[in-house]
Amino acid sequence: MIKISTRLVFLIRNRAYKFPLSRRGYLQGKQESRIWNNHKDTGFFAPLIWECFGIVCQERVSPLDELSYTRLELIRNTISELNIENCDLHNIANWGTYNNQPVLLDYGINERISTMYKLKQKDERRRNT
Ligand SMILES: Nc1ncnc2c1ncn2[C@@H]1O[C@H](COP(=O)(O)OP(=O)(O)O)[C@@H](O)[C@H]1O
Ligand SMILES: [Mg+2]
Repeated sequence: MIKISTRLVFLIRNRAYKFPLSRRGYLQGKQESRIWNNHKDTGFFAPLIWECFGIVCQERVSPLDELSYTRLELIRNTISELNIENCDLHNIANWGTYNNQPVLLDYGINERISTMYKLKQKDERRRNT
């Protein structure tokens, strides 16, 4: 299965492979690996298996049916880097289920990367008007 957003994602057997399509996608991959290395023991994230040149391989997780705001708040309060405005953490597409717990599968975000996203959205809005 293939999914495209800011990264090209291949879901093959029990793995997800994410390829950056832009500098932002590359930085997301790097950031995902940083967050994973620092917080792998929290159980908040889909396990990252390797990252190389911004390409990320994760364990494939099952979709999540309903967003848990308690879990989101817990994550944001524990990891200050993820406690930012204007981010995709509310989007259920960035969540999955692992060991019966809601986990973030798209956690390559920080203040700087989220600003890059905002600028891009603004550009697109300008182009559409
Ligand atoms: N570990 C994973 N397990 C299952 N599906 C995944 C996984 N990682 C990504 N996906 C799927 O690919 C989509 C895009 O991946 P994501 O990490 O959100 O990339 P982007 O940075 O482009 O938003 C997700 O919304 C999800 O549907
Ligand atoms: Mg995403």
